Amino acid sequence: MNEAPRIGPERNVELGASDEPFQNLHEFIRKARSNLNQNAWDYIVGAAETETTMRRNRMALDEIAFRPRVLRDVRKVVGSVEQFGRKLRLPVVLAPVGALEIFDPDGAASVARACGTFGAAHMLSSVSEPGLEKTAEAAPDALRLYQLYVRGDDAFVADVVSRAEKNAYAAFCLTVDTAHYSRRERDIAKRYVRESRLRATGGDYQKGLEWRTVKMIKDKFKIPLIIKGIATAEDGQIAIDHGVDWIYVSNHGGRQLDHGRGAMHVLPEIVDAVKGRAKIMVDGGVCRGTDIVKAIAAGADLVGIGRLQCWALAAAGEAGVARMLELLEDEVVRCLGLLGATSFAEVDKSCLHAATATNAPSVFSAFPLFDHEPYHY
Ligand code: FNR
Repeated sequence: MNEAPRIGPERNVELGASDEPFQNLHEFIRKARSNLNQNAWDYIVGAAETETTMRRNRMALDEIAFRPRVLRDVRKVVGSVEQFGRKLRLPVVLAPVGALEIFDPDGAASVARACGTFGAAHMLSSVSEPGLEKTAEAAPDALRLYQLYVRGDDAFVADVVSRAEKNAYAAFCLTVDTAHYSRRERDIAKRYVRESRLRATGGDYQKGLEWRTVKMIKDKFKIPLIIKGIATAEDGQIAIDHGVDWIYVSNHGGRQLDHGRGAMHVLPEIVDAVKGRAKIMVDGGVCRGTDIVKAIAAGADLVGIGRLQCWALAAAGEAGVARMLELLEDEVVRCLGLLGATSFAEVDKSCLHAATATNAPSVFSAFPLFDHEPYHY
């Protein structure tokens, strides 16, 4: 069993100052690797085909430099924001991840609980255990969002939306970048077929999904709607025309279409197209406090985290996820302070500048102290 998370404002997060085993974010990766078999490890780190989209996510973040302002009083800096009428300690949503039960016996319930304890948002994947009702029960007070892969007809979709409303999810999300399953070559090379893929049914509904379903949900339900997987201004505009509440800029962590753009390269055209008429989430390669600050400064309202969440969960369960959020908060607060800002309200795109990335992008490149060579495959 994992220890209960020991978090809170009274905790001393000064590096090296506590008996906390995880002092740097890369330490979760090392521990996760030692806890996981090759197939589970590949499930986290892998992406589609050449994995170019995944690397571009990191590259796009690394191609942004900061323009810090100085001689401002930054004694008191907070990383908190308000979203969905709730205060969050960070503008972070732990992104929907299928099959979290591979990493922790309680799966998504552990992640939702950690989010609730810390004060981050949690988006539950429709293909993660223990499912919609039990995850809600496990973390009744967390800011919970629900994500669906459409694998059934309108009646199926409407039933899931009703259950999300009934179980007090704050928003409903359709993932729309999975019309076809991608080729995950790490698995194919091993001749390994994931159980979740064998079990999945209703693939034709995913392939046939159109804006009509978005309209059906908006017409029938009040719950705020998020569309995850928007990657162009054109589709951002169509989402706005349908009254979508949140546009989630994402390429699925590079796990679907290969040779896509890095999410942070897509974000500016979405911000321009949306013009404040919907809120914006973004994910892809986000691993550090500085990444979160860059995304918010570039116009996002919430920032999603996929792989880092998996590594933290696989390393130390619920307490690991809470500790990961705590370390991210520490990085965010220091970054804001060094930019001359006391909160996210004081950062915008004037804090950012195009730059050359200094390292080769990889799924681990946010963590130069993590010696990834022995772990890459
Ligand atoms: C995902 N992602 C995902 N997205 C989704 O909408 N439903 C899902 O069930 C899953 N499952 C899933 C499993 C695993 C292991 C990963 C790593 C990712 C995509 C996820 O929500 C998010 O878009 C990306 O993970 C963001 O990129 P980073 O943070 O992993 O680089």
